[in-house]
Amino acid sequence: MIQKPRGTIDILPDKSALWLDIENRIRKVAKKYGFGEIRLPTFEVTELYNRGVGDTSDVVQKEMYTFTDNDNRSISLRPEGTAGVVRSIIENGLCSEAMPLSLYYLISCFRYEKPQAGRSREFYQFGVEMFGANSPTADAEVIMLASDIFSELGLNIRLEINSIGCPDCRPKYHAALKEYFASNIDDLCDTCKGRLEKNPLRILDCKSPVCSAIAKNAPHTIDYLCDDCKSHFDGLQNLLSKSGRDFTVNSRIVRGLDYYRKTVFEFISDDIGSQSTVCGGGRYDGLVQSLGGPALSGIGFAMGLTRLMMVLEAQNKLPELSDSMDLYIASLGEKAVSEAFKLSVALRNEGFKAQCDLVGRSLKAQMKYADKKSARFVLILGDSEIETRRCVLKNMSDSSQVEVSLDEIQSIINHIK
Ligand code: HAM
Repeated sequence: MIQKPRGTIDILPDKSALWLDIENRIRKVAKKYGFGEIRLPTFEVTELYNRGVGDTSDVVQKEMYTFTDNDNRSISLRPEGTAGVVRSIIENGLCSEAMPLSLYYLISCFRYEKPQAGRSREFYQFGVEMFGANSPTADAEVIMLASDIFSELGLNIRLEINSIGCPDCRPKYHAALKEYFASNIDDLCDTCKGRLEKNPLRILDCKSPVCSAIAKNAPHTIDYLCDDCKSHFDGLQNLLSKSGRDFTVNSRIVRGLDYYRKTVFEFISDDIGSQSTVCGGGRYDGLVQSLGGPALSGIGFAMGLTRLMMVLEAQNKLPELSDSMDLYIASLGEKAVSEAFKLSVALRNEGFKAQCDLVGRSLKAQMKYADKKSARFVLILGDSEIETRRCVLKNMSDSSQVEVSLDEIQSIINHIK
Protein backbone atom coordinates (compact mmCIF):
# COMPACT_ATOMS: atom_id res chain seq x y z
CA MET A 1 0.00 0.00 0.00
CA ILE A 2 1.35 3.43 -0.91
CA GLN A 3 1.32 5.75 2.08
CA LYS A 4 1.39 9.53 2.31
CA PRO A 5 4.84 11.07 2.75
CA ARG A 6 6.00 11.58 6.35
CA GLY A 7 4.89 14.92 7.75
CA THR A 8 1.79 15.32 5.57
CA ILE A 9 -1.89 14.98 6.48
CA ASP A 10 -5.07 13.89 4.72
CA ILE A 11 -8.05 16.04 5.62
CA LEU A 12 -11.05 13.76 5.18
CA PRO A 13 -14.65 14.96 4.63
CA ASP A 14 -15.60 14.70 8.32
CA LYS A 15 -12.80 17.18 9.14
CA SER A 16 -12.77 19.28 5.96
CA ALA A 17 -16.21 20.70 6.80
CA LEU A 18 -14.68 21.96 10.02
CA TRP A 19 -11.66 23.44 8.23
CA LEU A 20 -13.94 25.19 5.76
CA ASP A 21 -16.06 26.65 8.54
CA ILE A 22 -12.98 27.96 10.39
CA GLU A 23 -11.43 29.34 7.19
CA ASN A 24 -14.66 31.15 6.31
CA ARG A 25 -14.91 32.70 9.76
CA ILE A 26 -11.27 33.84 9.50
CA ARG A 27 -11.96 35.31 6.03
CA LYS A 28 -14.93 37.23 7.44
CA VAL A 29 -12.75 38.94 10.05
CA ALA A 30 -10.03 39.74 7.48
CA LYS A 31 -12.63 41.34 5.20
CA LYS A 32 -13.92 43.43 8.11
CA TYR A 33 -10.42 44.95 8.33
CA GLY A 34 -10.40 45.65 4.56
CA PHE A 35 -8.03 42.86 3.52
CA GLY A 36 -8.41 41.28 0.05
CA GLU A 37 -7.42 37.73 -0.83
CA ILE A 38 -4.30 36.99 -2.87
CA ARG A 39 -3.61 33.55 -4.37
CA LEU A 40 -0.02 32.64 -5.14
CA PRO A 41 2.00 29.94 -6.87
CA THR A 42 2.94 26.93 -4.75
CA PHE A 43 6.53 27.16 -5.99
CA GLU A 44 8.83 30.06 -6.79
CA VAL A 45 12.40 30.43 -8.01
CA THR A 46 14.71 29.54 -5.10
CA GLU A 47 16.47 32.91 -5.24
CA LEU A 48 13.28 34.58 -3.96
CA TYR A 49 13.56 32.72 -0.67
CA ASN A 50 17.34 33.06 -0.44
CA ARG A 51 17.02 36.82 -0.77
CA GLY A 52 13.58 37.25 0.81
CA VAL A 53 13.47 34.90 3.79
CA GLY A 54 17.25 35.07 4.22
CA ASP A 55 20.04 32.58 3.76
CA THR A 56 20.96 32.52 7.44
CA SER A 57 17.51 31.27 8.49
CA ASP A 58 16.93 27.58 9.31
CA VAL A 59 14.07 27.61 6.83
CA VAL A 60 16.35 28.42 3.90
CA GLN A 61 19.49 26.67 5.15
CA LYS A 62 17.94 23.34 6.09
CA GLU A 63 14.24 23.05 5.41
CA MET A 64 13.42 23.96 1.83
CA TYR A 65 12.12 21.49 -0.74
CA THR A 66 14.34 22.56 -3.62
CA PHE A 67 14.72 20.91 -7.01
CA THR A 68 16.03 21.72 -10.45
CA ASP A 69 13.34 21.79 -13.14
CA ASN A 70 13.71 20.64 -16.74
CA ASP A 71 14.99 24.08 -17.73
CA ASN A 72 17.74 23.76 -15.15
CA ARG A 73 16.22 26.42 -12.92
CA SER A 74 16.34 26.05 -9.16
CA ILE A 75 12.78 25.95 -7.86
CA SER A 76 11.52 25.70 -4.26
CA LEU A 77 8.15 24.80 -2.78
CA ARG A 78 7.06 27.82 -0.73
CA PRO A 79 8.20 27.52 2.89
CA GLU A 80 6.07 30.60 3.79
CA GLY A 81 3.91 33.25 2.15
CA THR A 82 5.47 36.67 2.72
CA ALA A 83 8.25 36.49 0.10
CA GLY A 84 5.78 35.34 -2.56
CA VAL A 85 3.35 38.16 -1.76
CA VAL A 86 6.16 40.73 -2.00
CA ARG A 87 7.31 39.27 -5.32
CA SER A 88 3.74 39.40 -6.60
CA ILE A 89 2.96 43.00 -5.62
CA ILE A 90 6.19 44.19 -7.25
CA GLU A 91 5.63 42.13 -10.40
CA ASN A 92 1.98 43.19 -10.74
CA GLY A 93 2.57 46.89 -10.06
CA LEU A 94 0.51 46.98 -6.86
CA CYS A 95 3.14 49.07 -5.05
CA SER A 96 1.68 52.25 -6.55
CA GLU A 97 -1.89 51.58 -5.38
CA ALA A 98 -3.58 53.51 -2.56
CA MET A 99 -1.87 52.58 0.69
CA PRO A 100 -2.10 50.66 2.84
CA LEU A 101 -2.28 47.66 0.57
CA SER A 102 -3.80 44.91 2.70
CA LEU A 103 -3.73 41.29 1.54
CA TYR A 104 -4.50 37.92 3.05
CA TYR A 105 -3.89 34.34 1.96
CA LEU A 106 -4.77 30.78 2.89
CA ILE A 107 -1.97 28.55 1.68
CA SER A 108 -0.10 25.32 2.23
CA CYS A 109 3.63 25.63 2.97
CA PHE A 110 6.44 23.10 2.89
CA ARG A 111 9.36 22.74 5.28
CA TYR A 112 11.58 19.71 5.76
CA GLU A 113 11.29 19.62 9.55
CA LYS A 114 11.17 16.78 12.04
CA PRO A 115 7.46 15.99 12.26
CA GLN A 116 5.77 16.02 15.67
CA ALA A 117 2.44 17.18 17.12
CA GLY A 118 1.83 20.64 15.62
CA ARG A 119 4.79 20.43 13.26
CA SER A 120 4.52 18.90 9.81
CA ARG A 121 6.28 19.10 6.47
CA GLU A 122 3.27 20.33 4.58
CA PHE A 123 1.23 22.68 6.74
CA TYR A 124 -1.48 25.29 6.29
CA GLN A 125 -1.30 28.98 7.07
CA PHE A 126 -3.66 31.90 7.13
CA GLY A 127 -1.51 34.99 6.66
CA VAL A 128 -1.89 38.73 6.15
CA GLU A 129 0.48 41.38 4.82
CA MET A 130 -0.05 45.14 5.07
CA PHE A 131 2.15 47.41 2.95
CA GLY A 132 2.81 51.16 2.99
CA ALA A 133 1.92 51.91 6.61
CA ASN A 134 4.87 52.33 8.93
CA SER A 135 3.20 53.72 12.04
CA PRO A 136 2.76 51.82 15.31
CA THR A 137 -0.98 52.09 14.58
CA ALA A 138 -0.49 49.75 11.61
CA ASP A 139 1.30 47.27 13.90
CA ALA A 140 -1.56 47.50 16.39
CA GLU A 141 -4.16 47.07 13.63
CA VAL A 142 -2.51 43.89 12.31
CA ILE A 143 -2.11 42.47 15.83
CA MET A 144 -5.77 43.29 16.61
CA LEU A 145 -6.82 41.47 13.45
CA ALA A 146 -5.13 38.27 14.67
CA SER A 147 -6.56 38.85 18.11
CA ASP A 148 -10.10 39.33 16.71
CA ILE A 149 -9.79 36.05 14.80
CA PHE A 150 -9.04 34.23 18.04
CA SER A 151 -11.96 36.00 19.75
CA GLU A 152 -14.31 35.13 16.86
CA LEU A 153 -13.34 31.48 17.37
CA GLY A 154 -13.86 31.77 21.15
CA LEU A 155 -10.17 31.21 21.93
CA ASN A 156 -8.00 32.58 24.64
CA ILE A 157 -4.43 32.94 23.34
CA ARG A 158 -1.69 34.96 24.93
CA LEU A 159 0.20 37.67 23.02
CA GLU A 160 3.93 38.32 23.37
CA ILE A 161 5.65 41.22 21.63
CA ASN A 162 9.20 42.46 21.16
CA SER A 163 11.24 44.85 19.05
CA ILE A 164 14.36 43.62 17.30
CA GLY A 165 15.50 47.04 16.11
CA CYS A 166 16.41 48.37 12.69
CA PRO A 167 19.59 48.63 10.58
CA ASP A 168 20.57 51.70 12.62
CA CYS A 169 20.60 50.05 16.03
CA ARG A 170 21.09 46.42 15.16
CA PRO A 171 24.86 46.57 14.52
CA LYS A 172 25.39 47.56 18.16
CA TYR A 173 23.19 44.67 19.29
CA HIS A 174 24.92 42.25 16.90
CA ALA A 175 28.28 43.28 18.33
CA ALA A 176 27.05 42.55 21.87
CA LEU A 177 25.67 39.17 20.77
CA LYS A 178 28.89 38.28 18.97
CA GLU A 179 30.93 39.08 22.01
CA TYR A 180 28.63 36.96 24.18
CA PHE A 181 28.49 33.95 21.86
CA ALA A 182 32.20 34.12 20.98
CA SER A 183 32.95 33.30 24.60
CA ASN A 184 30.88 30.08 24.19
CA ILE A 185 31.93 29.25 20.65
CA ASP A 186 33.23 25.73 21.34
CA ASP A 187 29.82 24.61 22.59
CA LEU A 188 27.77 26.05 19.71
CA CYS A 189 26.47 23.71 16.96
CA ASP A 190 28.25 23.90 13.59
CA THR A 191 25.43 25.92 11.99
CA CYS A 192 25.58 28.50 14.77
CA LYS A 193 29.37 28.73 14.57
CA GLY A 194 28.80 29.87 10.97
CA ARG A 195 26.02 32.25 12.07
CA LEU A 196 28.23 34.02 14.57
CA GLU A 197 29.84 36.15 11.88
CA LYS A 198 26.93 36.46 9.46
CA ASN A 199 23.86 36.84 11.69
CA PRO A 200 24.29 36.12 15.43
CA LEU A 201 20.57 36.90 15.99
CA ARG A 202 19.76 33.53 14.41
CA ILE A 203 21.61 31.69 17.20
CA LEU A 204 18.84 32.87 19.54
CA ASP A 205 16.28 30.65 17.87
CA CYS A 206 18.49 27.62 17.17
CA LYS A 207 16.62 24.43 18.03
CA SER A 208 19.69 22.61 19.43
CA PRO A 209 19.30 22.25 23.22
CA VAL A 210 22.91 23.33 23.90
CA CYS A 211 22.64 26.49 21.76
CA SER A 212 19.28 27.42 23.29
CA ALA A 213 20.68 26.92 26.80
CA ILE A 214 23.57 29.27 25.97
CA ALA A 215 21.14 31.74 24.35
CA LYS A 216 19.18 32.05 27.60
CA ASN A 217 21.71 34.49 29.06
CA ALA A 218 22.42 36.44 25.87
CA PRO A 219 21.92 40.24 25.79
CA HIS A 220 18.37 41.49 25.11
CA THR A 221 17.47 43.39 21.90
CA ILE A 222 15.32 45.80 23.81
CA ASP A 223 18.33 47.25 25.66
CA TYR A 224 19.93 48.28 22.35
CA LEU A 225 17.06 50.03 20.51
CA CYS A 226 17.65 53.45 18.89
CA ASP A 227 15.27 56.32 19.76
CA ASP A 228 13.09 55.75 16.70
CA CYS A 229 12.65 52.01 17.39
CA LYS A 230 12.06 52.68 21.06
CA SER A 231 9.34 55.28 20.46
CA HIS A 232 7.74 53.01 17.82
CA PHE A 233 7.65 50.14 20.32
CA ASP A 234 6.32 52.39 23.11
CA GLY A 235 3.63 53.64 20.73
CA LEU A 236 2.54 50.10 19.95
CA GLN A 237 2.34 49.17 23.61
CA ASN A 238 0.22 52.24 24.31
CA LEU A 239 -2.20 51.41 21.52
CA LEU A 240 -2.57 47.79 22.59
CA SER A 241 -3.17 48.82 26.19
CA LYS A 242 -5.77 51.37 25.10
CA SER A 243 -7.60 48.79 23.02
CA GLY A 244 -7.73 46.45 26.01
CA ARG A 245 -5.57 43.74 24.46
CA ASP A 246 -3.44 41.98 27.09
CA PHE A 247 0.18 41.35 26.13
CA THR A 248 3.59 40.78 27.62
CA VAL A 249 6.93 42.02 26.34
CA ASN A 250 9.20 39.03 25.77
CA SER A 251 12.64 40.13 24.71
CA ARG A 252 13.48 36.53 23.72
CA ILE A 253 11.22 36.65 20.66
CA VAL A 254 13.40 37.23 17.61
CA ARG A 255 11.49 35.12 15.01
CA GLY A 256 13.14 32.61 12.71
CA LEU A 257 13.13 34.55 9.42
CA ASP A 258 15.68 37.19 8.45
CA TYR A 259 13.41 39.94 7.11
CA TYR A 260 12.04 41.27 10.39
CA ARG A 261 12.72 44.74 11.79
CA LYS A 262 11.27 46.60 14.77
CA THR A 263 8.05 44.93 15.96
CA VAL A 264 7.83 41.14 16.22
CA PHE A 265 5.05 39.22 17.96
CA GLU A 266 3.72 35.76 18.67
CA PHE A 267 0.39 34.37 19.86
CA ILE A 268 1.12 31.38 22.07
CA SER A 269 -1.09 28.69 23.58
CA ASP A 270 0.01 26.54 26.50
CA ASP A 271 -2.65 23.95 25.62
CA ILE A 272 -0.96 22.24 22.66
CA GLY A 273 2.48 21.08 23.76
CA SER A 274 5.90 22.26 22.64
CA GLN A 275 4.84 23.65 19.23
CA SER A 276 2.93 26.35 21.02
CA THR A 277 3.23 29.34 18.67
CA VAL A 278 -0.10 29.50 16.88
CA CYS A 279 0.63 32.75 15.07
CA GLY A 280 3.80 34.73 14.44
CA GLY A 281 4.61 37.91 12.60
CA GLY A 282 6.25 41.26 12.56
CA ARG A 283 7.39 44.29 10.61
CA TYR A 284 9.64 43.86 7.59
CA ASP A 285 10.38 47.37 6.27
CA GLY A 286 13.13 46.99 3.69
CA LEU A 287 12.01 43.64 2.23
CA VAL A 288 10.10 45.12 -0.72
CA GLN A 289 13.10 47.21 -1.65
CA SER A 290 15.56 44.34 -1.24
CA LEU A 291 13.49 42.32 -3.72
CA GLY A 292 13.60 45.10 -6.33
CA GLY A 293 10.54 47.19 -5.41
CA PRO A 294 10.15 50.69 -4.00
CA ALA A 295 10.87 51.62 -0.37
CA LEU A 296 7.58 50.30 0.97
CA SER A 297 7.14 49.25 4.57
CA GLY A 298 5.40 46.00 5.47
CA ILE A 299 3.98 44.15 8.43
CA GLY A 300 2.10 40.88 8.68
CA PHE A 301 1.63 37.54 10.38
CA ALA A 302 0.78 33.95 9.64
CA MET A 303 -1.13 31.50 11.80
CA GLY A 304 -0.75 27.75 11.53
CA LEU A 305 -4.14 26.20 10.92
CA THR A 306 -3.27 22.75 12.31
CA ARG A 307 -2.13 24.36 15.55
CA LEU A 308 -5.28 26.49 15.54
CA MET A 309 -7.40 23.31 15.26
CA MET A 310 -5.43 21.80 18.14
CA VAL A 311 -6.20 24.83 20.34
CA LEU A 312 -9.87 24.74 19.34
CA GLU A 313 -10.00 21.13 20.44
CA ALA A 314 -8.01 21.70 23.64
CA GLN A 315 -10.17 24.68 24.65
CA ASN A 316 -13.37 22.81 23.74
CA LYS A 317 -14.34 25.31 21.06
CA LEU A 318 -14.72 23.07 18.03
CA PRO A 319 -17.96 24.15 16.35
CA GLU A 320 -20.71 21.58 16.08
CA LEU A 321 -21.45 21.29 12.40
CA SER A 322 -24.46 19.43 11.14
CA ASP A 323 -23.82 17.49 7.95
CA SER A 324 -27.27 15.93 7.78
CA MET A 325 -29.16 15.27 4.58
CA ASP A 326 -32.68 16.74 4.26
CA LEU A 327 -34.27 13.81 2.47
CA TYR A 328 -33.29 10.30 1.43
CA ILE A 329 -35.54 8.65 -1.17
CA ALA A 330 -35.50 4.89 -0.82
CA SER A 331 -36.76 2.89 -3.79
CA LEU A 332 -37.45 -0.68 -4.85
CA GLY A 333 -38.15 -1.68 -8.44
CA GLU A 334 -37.12 -0.14 -11.74
CA LYS A 335 -39.91 2.45 -11.99
CA ALA A 336 -39.45 3.51 -8.37
CA VAL A 337 -35.70 3.96 -8.88
CA SER A 338 -36.28 6.29 -11.79
CA GLU A 339 -39.03 8.22 -9.93
CA ALA A 340 -36.69 8.57 -6.92
CA PHE A 341 -33.96 9.92 -9.17
CA LYS A 342 -36.34 12.44 -10.78
CA LEU A 343 -37.59 13.55 -7.37
CA SER A 344 -34.08 13.98 -5.91
CA VAL A 345 -33.08 16.16 -8.90
CA ALA A 346 -36.20 18.31 -8.44
CA LEU A 347 -35.63 18.70 -4.70
CA ARG A 348 -31.95 19.62 -5.14
CA ASN A 349 -33.09 22.26 -7.65
CA GLU A 350 -35.23 23.66 -4.84
CA GLY A 351 -32.13 23.89 -2.63
CA PHE A 352 -32.54 20.75 -0.51
CA LYS A 353 -29.90 18.15 0.25
CA ALA A 354 -31.58 15.12 -1.30
CA GLN A 355 -30.21 11.73 -2.33
CA CYS A 356 -31.60 8.51 -3.75
CA ASP A 357 -30.16 5.00 -3.98
CA LEU A 358 -27.45 4.71 -6.64
CA VAL A 359 -26.11 1.24 -5.89
CA GLY A 360 -29.20 -1.03 -6.00
CA ARG A 361 -29.30 -1.82 -2.29
CA SER A 362 -32.07 -3.70 -0.47
CA LEU A 363 -34.67 -1.55 1.29
CA LYS A 364 -33.18 -2.48 4.65
CA ALA A 365 -29.69 -1.44 3.53
CA GLN A 366 -31.06 1.82 2.15
CA MET A 367 -32.70 2.65 5.49
CA LYS A 368 -29.43 1.88 7.26
CA TYR A 369 -27.59 4.20 4.87
CA ALA A 370 -30.15 6.99 5.44
CA ASP A 371 -29.68 6.60 9.16
CA LYS A 372 -25.88 6.67 8.88
CA LYS A 373 -26.05 9.85 6.80
CA SER A 374 -28.40 11.44 9.40
CA ALA A 375 -31.20 11.97 6.87
CA ARG A 376 -33.91 14.12 8.47
CA PHE A 377 -36.66 12.58 6.33
CA VAL A 378 -37.07 9.43 4.25
CA LEU A 379 -39.49 8.72 1.41
CA ILE A 380 -40.09 5.09 0.51
CA LEU A 381 -41.07 4.30 -3.07
CA GLY A 382 -42.16 0.87 -4.38
CA ASP A 383 -44.41 -0.40 -7.16
CA SER A 384 -47.65 0.42 -5.30
CA GLU A 385 -46.53 4.00 -4.54
CA ILE A 386 -45.76 4.51 -8.23
CA GLU A 387 -49.22 3.22 -9.10
CA THR A 388 -51.18 5.28 -6.54
CA ARG A 389 -48.81 8.31 -6.84
CA ARG A 390 -48.95 8.58 -3.04
CA CYS A 391 -46.23 7.64 -0.57
CA VAL A 392 -45.17 7.88 3.06
CA LEU A 393 -42.76 10.56 4.26
CA LYS A 394 -41.04 9.52 7.47
CA ASN A 395 -39.60 11.99 9.94
CA MET A 396 -36.49 10.25 11.25
CA SER A 397 -36.25 12.27 14.46
CA ASP A 398 -39.61 11.12 15.92
CA SER A 399 -40.60 8.34 13.47
CA SER A 400 -43.85 10.18 12.66
CA GLN A 401 -45.25 9.64 9.17
CA VAL A 402 -47.42 11.60 6.74
CA GLU A 403 -48.77 10.70 3.34
CA VAL A 404 -47.71 12.95 0.47
CA SER A 405 -48.49 13.10 -3.24
CA LEU A 406 -45.65 12.26 -5.61
CA ASP A 407 -47.06 14.77 -8.08
CA GLU A 408 -47.10 17.70 -5.67
CA ILE A 409 -43.47 18.38 -4.82
CA GLN A 410 -44.62 21.42 -2.82
CA SER A 411 -46.40 19.17 -0.33
CA ILE A 412 -43.10 17.34 0.27
CA ILE A 413 -41.23 20.63 0.59
CA ASN A 414 -43.76 21.94 3.12
CA HIS A 415 -42.92 19.05 5.40
CA ILE A 416 -39.13 19.00 5.09
CA LYS A 417 -38.29 22.71 5.00
P1 HAM B 1 6.50 31.44 10.82
O1 HAM B 1 6.67 31.76 12.26
O2 HAM B 1 7.60 30.72 10.16
O3 HAM B 1 6.22 32.81 10.09
O4 HAM B 1 5.17 30.61 10.64
C1 HAM B 1 3.93 31.12 11.09
C2 HAM B 1 3.11 30.03 11.75
O5 HAM B 1 2.99 28.91 10.88
C3 HAM B 1 3.75 29.44 13.01
O6 HAM B 1 3.47 30.24 14.13
C4 HAM B 1 3.05 28.10 13.10
O7 HAM B 1 1.77 28.24 13.67
C5 HAM B 1 2.90 27.72 11.64
N1 HAM B 1 3.99 26.80 11.25
C6 HAM B 1 5.25 27.09 10.90
N2 HAM B 1 5.95 25.99 10.61
C7 HAM B 1 5.10 24.94 10.78
C8 HAM B 1 5.22 23.53 10.63
N3 HAM B 1 6.35 22.96 10.22
N4 HAM B 1 4.14 22.77 10.91
C9 HAM B 1 2.98 23.32 11.31
N5 HAM B 1 2.80 24.65 11.45
C10 HAM B 1 3.85 25.46 11.20
C11 HAM B 1 6.00 32.93 8.77
O8 HAM B 1 5.77 32.00 8.02
C12 HAM B 1 5.94 34.36 8.30
N6 HAM B 1 5.80 34.37 6.83
C13 HAM B 1 4.81 35.09 8.99
C14 HAM B 1 4.70 36.52 8.54
C15 HAM B 1 3.87 37.03 7.64
N7 HAM B 1 5.47 37.51 8.98
C16 HAM B 1 5.14 38.63 8.37
N8 HAM B 1 4.17 38.33 7.53
